[in-house]
Amino acid sequence: MNGLKLIAGNSNRSLAEKIAANLGVSLCEIDLDRFGDGEIRAKINENIRGVDVFIIQSTNPPAENLMELLILNDTCFRASAERITNVIPYYSYARQDRKDQPRVPITAKLVAKLVDVSGANRVLTMDLHSAQIQGFFDIQADNLFAAPVLLDYIKEKRIKDLTIVSPDVGGVKMGRAFAKRLNAELAIVDKRRSEKDKTEVMNVIGDVSGRNIVILDDMISSGSTLLHAAGELERRGASSVMACATHPVFSGDACANIMKSSLSEVIVTNTLPFDTNRCPKVKVLDVSGILAETIHRIHSNESVSTLFV
Ligand code: R5P
Repeated sequence: MNGLKLIAGNSNRSLAEKIAANLGVSLCEIDLDRFGDGEIRAKINENIRGVDVFIIQSTNPPAENLMELLILNDTCFRASAERITNVIPYYSYARQDRKDQPRVPITAKLVAKLVDVSGANRVLTMDLHSAQIQGFFDIQADNLFAAPVLLDYIKEKRIKDLTIVSPDVGGVKMGRAFAKRLNAELAIVDKRRSEKDKTEVMNVIGDVSGRNIVILDDMISSGSTLLHAAGELERRGASSVMACATHPVFSGDACANIMKSSLSEVIVTNTLPFDTNRCPKVKVLDVSGILAETIHRIHSNESVSTLFV
């Protein structure tokens, strides 16, 4: 292959720049803007024939981000790139991953199909909402973990009497892995989603009284899951509650509600852009190193899994 090139969409340019800096390369020169009617216009201003291309684009709303990714795939395919890898730090539409009611879509599969048919040869993503979404792609998909970065930060805090809390049953596996590495206890919240952005705590499994809690989740969107869990843990006598989630989606009043809450700190990563001025309790950790190292390993046919042992 004729070397490696990184192409950035507009969804998270600062992360793409950090990945490029980690790899010691510049981002590929492209035009990615709009025609007068609003349609996306893409043009690659460098030769990418025979090149191993990595397109960096999270697919968070608006749908323009997803559309940019699909159009960049088609552009690279028509420019004869040898291989096109979609680096999707935050893979959106992932929560609708099964038919849990009549007459609903499975958007996690739909987006995977769109990525496949638009020309991508492989996908690199991080902390998928559910690991089995990997199998929704008919191309290779690597699901990376932000855990090394998150764990290092929590370890440095040397929190005593620590309990990791999974705010729903879906997060138990990751919660257990964190608890083991931090030598902490594990507790689980039994959550029910009553409406689209509203959740209720049904029960808490495990003793949280007198414990310092880190609630661990894959994402914070409306903040309902996190804030209801935090409230219930406090009612049950937790000494302190902080939170840790990979993807800072932060929709609606999430920031304001987190600022009003008694959460001491909320740790997230830069899979999505987030301005901490919106919510000074939020600490953003950088995952560009993990993504850059994985890109390097894929390009040079080295093991990716050994990054996470
Ligand atoms: C749900 O299964 C996820 O793991 C998150 O807990 C959830 O999507 C967070 O959304 P929200 O912040 O809107 O409650």
